[in-house]
Amino acid sequence: MKKKPSKEKQSEHSGWWGDGPVFVFLYNKHKKEAVTNGNAKEILQFVENSEQVLHESEALRTIRIDNEYSHPVLFVDTGKEPGLDTLDHLRMAGYRLAKWAENNGVKTLLIPSLKNDSPKKRRAILQGLCHASYRFDKYKSKKKKATDVEYLFADDMEIDGKPLQTLFAGIDLAKDLINEPGASITPATMANIAGSIAKKCGLGIKIRKCKELEKDGYNGILTVGRGSNNEPAMVTLSYKPKDLNMVHLALVGKGITFDTGGICLKPGDKMHEMKCDMSGAAIVLAAIQVIAQLKLPLRVDAIMCLAENRPGENAVLPGDIFKAKNGKTVMVENTDAEGRLVLIDGLAEAAELGATHIIDIATLTGAIKRALGSSIGGLFSNNDGLAMTIKESGAEAGEKWWRMPLDEEYADGLKDKVADIRNMSDDGPGAIVAALFLKEFVKEGVQWAHLDIAGVDFAANGYKYTEHGATAFGLKTIVETAKRYATDYVH
Ligand code: BES
Ligand code: MG
Ligand code: ZN
Repeated sequence: MKKKPSKEKQSEHSGWWGDGPVFVFLYNKHKKEAVTNGNAKEILQFVENSEQVLHESEALRTIRIDNEYSHPVLFVDTGKEPGLDTLDHLRMAGYRLAKWAENNGVKTLLIPSLKNDSPKKRRAILQGLCHASYRFDKYKSKKKKATDVEYLFADDMEIDGKPLQTLFAGIDLAKDLINEPGASITPATMANIAGSIAKKCGLGIKIRKCKELEKDGYNGILTVGRGSNNEPAMVTLSYKPKDLNMVHLALVGKGITFDTGGICLKPGDKMHEMKCDMSGAAIVLAAIQVIAQLKLPLRVDAIMCLAENRPGENAVLPGDIFKAKNGKTVMVENTDAEGRLVLIDGLAEAAELGATHIIDIATLTGAIKRALGSSIGGLFSNNDGLAMTIKESGAEAGEKWWRMPLDEEYADGLKDKVADIRNMSDDGPGAIVAALFLKEFVKEGVQWAHLDIAGVDFAANGYKYTEHGATAFGLKTIVETAKRYATDYVH
């Protein structure tokens, strides 16, 4: 008879698994493959026919094998989600395993060697574990007790855990900032946090508030921030290692700490999600922390374009015109298309600093969400090599990007009758038009990529290894891209 105790009954048994390690087999039911070493056919047959299944969910089966050791053994199906590659399936398996272990009071999981084993595959399983340990429960009065789950591989293939910890400290930092409500994250708080990170990592930092923004002609950020009592700011963090190559990478992040839409107010439905409109800034901040801690040999600047977009006494009005840093006049037709207005200041700052490569990252358009959904980010670039590096880095990191066109004919709609350019067009593909607007402000000769993460930065109902909230999508891609430019680049 198959025993299938309910979830409640399982938790009653917490501690049942004992203090020793639980053995794990990974297999792929769909492909009929063993993922850890073993005979696929035998494993699958065993799992299917076992009469001692203690717990069964779609992806996890726990079986107690009554041999002389009475080992509890866990069988994990790695291949549930369609569309994921091998590494992401392993991350998912690592994630599910950790969640299961936590719920069952199991501290150690023993994983045998994998088929076609490699440090990369093992790291993917460990990444799943790291993702599982993130929680944002500071506002819950009852917090779930965190248990430390440890994975042991059955033989000792060298994996250096340090870079993984460094990366995940960055991911957790970005997620914490993005998940924080709008009231507690203002441009000033972001600047303060950047200040402490600069100190910790030995980075240069320049903070421009209204006075300095005005002096230096950064009128995009000023214009957007005018409606709020929380002063806007631009924060530039600089990492200049002794050993460096010819690449000078600037990361520019959209940091709208809350986007109400301004005078062109958004509808109330889902407006609360606009607390995450500073994802880009949080990601570039976390990225430069990780890059500095990994001591990558290239120059990197992170520019955070910070403002709160609110209707208010002094808020910018639709039809208002300002002069951008490069001298072009911009008509603000829609105050809700504010991201591009703050980003052009970041692009100008990157050019001032002499960047050879610029990557901007922004929750820029609802249109990219409609085009690519919540699993794929929008990638725009004026350079094939940079676009390919980002796409490949994303594939390695478990973040998918789709390169979008930047065809100039859509830029016609941005022409204005009064000013040089306006911040939206009457019709046309919104995400492409926004990218074309930015392109107008990229210095000639600079390799530039724009990442529109409006569809992927926040998972209201969970996505892969995020249950709810910020995904920090893009951070892993940027760090991987920086690694590639640090090692491979020939100028
Ligand atoms: N922050 C939004 C984009 C966004 C939408 C992010 C959904 C995350 C989820 C951006 O500032 C915005 O409001 N864009 C407008 C532009 C339009 C007025 C031209 C949009 O996409 O609707
Ligand atoms: Mg907006
Ligand atoms: Zn916005």
